[in-house]
Amino acid sequence: MAIANYTMEKVIDESVQGSALITDLADQNNRKLYIESYGCQMNFSDSEIVASILATEGFNTTDQLEEADLVLVNTCSIREKAESNVRKRLEKFNAVKKTKPHMRVGVLGCMAERLKSKLLEEEKIVDMVVGPDAYKDLPNLIREIDEGRNAVNVILSKDETYGDIAPVRLNSNGVTALVSITRGCDNMCTFCVVPFTRGRERSRDPQSIAQEVNELWEQGYREVTLLGQNVDSYLWYGGGLKKDLDKASEIQKATAVDFAGLLALVAESQPKMRIRFSTSNPQDMTLEVVRTMAKYQNICSHIHLPVQSGSNRILKAMNRLHTREEYMTLIDNIRSIIPDCGISQDIIAGFPTETEKDHRDTLSLMDYVKYDFGFMFSYSERPGTMAAKKLKDDVPETIKKKRLQEIIDLQRKHCLYRTKQYLGKTEEVLIEGSSKKSDAHWMGRTSANTVVVFPKKHYKAGDFVNVKIKDCTSATLFGDAVGLTENNG
Ligand code: SAH
Ligand code: F3S
Repeated sequence: MAIANYTMEKVIDESVQGSALITDLADQNNRKLYIESYGCQMNFSDSEIVASILATEGFNTTDQLEEADLVLVNTCSIREKAESNVRKRLEKFNAVKKTKPHMRVGVLGCMAERLKSKLLEEEKIVDMVVGPDAYKDLPNLIREIDEGRNAVNVILSKDETYGDIAPVRLNSNGVTALVSITRGCDNMCTFCVVPFTRGRERSRDPQSIAQEVNELWEQGYREVTLLGQNVDSYLWYGGGLKKDLDKASEIQKATAVDFAGLLALVAESQPKMRIRFSTSNPQDMTLEVVRTMAKYQNICSHIHLPVQSGSNRILKAMNRLHTREEYMTLIDNIRSIIPDCGISQDIIAGFPTETEKDHRDTLSLMDYVKYDFGFMFSYSERPGTMAAKKLKDDVPETIKKKRLQEIIDLQRKHCLYRTKQYLGKTEEVLIEGSSKKSDAHWMGRTSANTVVVFPKKHYKAGDFVNVKIKDCTSATLFGDAVGLTENNG
């Protein structure tokens, strides 16, 4: 707001400009931003950073597309379908723009980074293209488009973490919030476009993370999810890329904070805040992290541990740097340290060269783990990735679909197996808000991340309640709240 006032004063001082311009600028300081996010949680978190940057430029957010002066779409490139969905949305924005010619449209995120200025040519409606590390440049870019020029900034950064920006919480339930801790990824899984669109891996200062969590607590939030493409490789040694650690001083190395250290720091600084994290990569997850989870009761017992495939041959071709056996040992260790730990997966069906035997290895691995839930995809070739360069996308679509369906069906069976284990038990649940299906019921989650629905009674959003579980589907537990737990207050 300070910047906006300064601009106004400047214009008034130069009063020869006349009142029309002053009115224009007053309007400019009260513009409406509509922002839509696709893809991973990191994108949703980034959109909150973008809203914060634009608030200082006089933009207030709106959830009504028709009201917007500026429409931003924070995009995902992970699969072809994700990109085609965004292109369809751009068509819709185009239709709205016909009735509102002054409306401007910007594309943010991974599609912006992947396609760069090509997007301006391919999608005439787009005025501005901004990559994931360039959001601090938005005020300048908006000035460009205000003056009728297209604007592009897709420069990836070695140190941008947005650690100094307090996000504006969008679509918030006031109870759970996302906090980003790393950006980028150095893992180079051969199927994945993320290292190209989000750049090299860097970690955010632990003090700024703890401070954001403390502020969230003060504002009434009761659960945070620490976000990174690969949280287990979090490492803070005073700034800089993970890959440049060798160049750090001995003191920097000795005082470095790893992910287990960060978890402990956040858990201790807010002992009643529930803490989750996502995503873990099996090759980088240490048992120290699992032991830290066990040590602090406020760190939730859930690990999202994508495996992608149960076949050693395919894991190797994917450049996932662990074997099926190592993954199983990790699962055994997790379960021996945290017996009730919820474990979820990402799996890709039909990676190039995948045979029926490889697919059956995936199914048998699933049988071994019996995941609580999962996100399952059929392989989508992404331009520029190692897999696209080196391997032919040779599994026919019909086979990919069939295998994916078998994986989904098996997962559904395992989901039900897991939810049934809760019947008759009493679980601590954090209430997030009303159930989508009934206003008379609350929705919340267990520590292991299973959704629970129960009658509201006198409880309120943000309460920790004990819920006796009486019934379940494969995705949801149903029960009755029997009292507040000692975690409240
Ligand atoms: N580490 C990241 C993973 C990002 S991508 C995270 O924080 O979530 C999420 C999932 O999308 C991956 O685990 C993988 O299962 C899937 N995926 C990535 N690239 C894909 C591709 N080319 N085709 C199909 N699925 C893909
Ligand atoms: Fe992608 Fe593998 Fe990183 S899935 S985000 S390259 S851990």
